[in-house]
Amino acid sequence: MQNVRAGNALIPAIGFGTYGMNGDDIYRMIPAALRAGFRHIDTAQIYRNEAEIGECVAESGIPRSEIFLTTKVWVSNYSARHFDASVNESLRKLKTDYIDLLLLHWPGSDVPLTEQIAELNAVVRAGKVRHIGMSNFNRASMTEAIRLSAAPLVTNQFEYHPYLNQSLLIGSTRQAGLAVTGYCGMAIGRVFSDPTLMEIAARHDKTIAQIVLRWLVQQSGVVALSRTTRVDRLAQNLAVFDFELDSADMTAIYALATANSRIVDPPGLAPLWDSTGA
Ligand SMILES: NC(=O)c1ccc[n+]([C@@H]2O[C@H](COP(=O)([O-])OP(=O)(O)OC[C@H]3O[C@@H](n4cnc5c(N)ncnc54)[C@H](OP(=O)(O)O)[C@@H]3O)[C@@H](O)[C@H]2O)c1
Repeated sequence: MQNVRAGNALIPAIGFGTYGMNGDDIYRMIPAALRAGFRHIDTAQIYRNEAEIGECVAESGIPRSEIFLTTKVWVSNYSARHFDASVNESLRKLKTDYIDLLLLHWPGSDVPLTEQIAELNAVVRAGKVRHIGMSNFNRASMTEAIRLSAAPLVTNQFEYHPYLNQSLLIGSTRQAGLAVTGYCGMAIGRVFSDPTLMEIAARHDKTIAQIVLRWLVQQSGVVALSRTTRVDRLAQNLAVFDFELDSADMTAIYALATANSRIVDPPGLAPLWDSTGA
């Protein structure tokens, strides 16, 4: 598995996404994902599956040091009063004494950013967390978070797929030395009926999922999250490091971006997005 370096963090370039999975899905998919070679798992306090993931990781027989675990603090836990206790609960559920990457899940909160960043730094100092970052931050709030943090922030995780032009946010994220972690790469299924992607996939003898994942990880500093509830798709979604898209393919996929293609935009949590208009 290729890694993306950001500051002192080495992040496996494809992470297994677990949004919407609990109980049976986790017990079925996480052991199979680890067997298939996934070494990066993405969860969040709000997904309510940290305990099941922790169990699967603990029972996998794979050394903890070989698995990169990301979780995200939910907005209701951002205050100094709740933050540390919520991280302790994540640690307990994940059955581990450290989290590889801890993110602020969404920017929308009344708790001052100074307090959120101070709390993130405190859990790093306490050895509970190796790396920190944020999710769904726009350029302005990301820049402010970086300014406030003594420990380096290593990633901004946000929606990224062929229909959403994120060049502004990606440019700033890269320039600040952070990795981009893209979610919803499959654009909730829209990619699977796209004629351009079908043509590129046929020419490379790959699936559309592989073409989109390859397009993501071929971009400098980009980590892709991939979720599937089908064991037979795990190996396919990891097998994207043995071929390349040429610049014409890359450009054709960038050209699929259109206005109003954002999928995840929860009111009260989402920031004012950086928009290119296309
Ligand atoms: N930070 C945030 O606010 C945030 C927001 C959203 C998501 N995320 C994270 O990002 C992860 C990934 O995003 P996502 O959940 O939208 O996942 P995704 O990987 O973009 O899309 C998942 C969908 O694609 C299908 N799929 C996956 N591989 C396939 C293949 N090889 N062939 C055909 N269909 C395939 C899956 O169907 P099957 O299950 O049938 O295979 C599922 O419907 C999430 O799970 C979560 O961890 C974070």
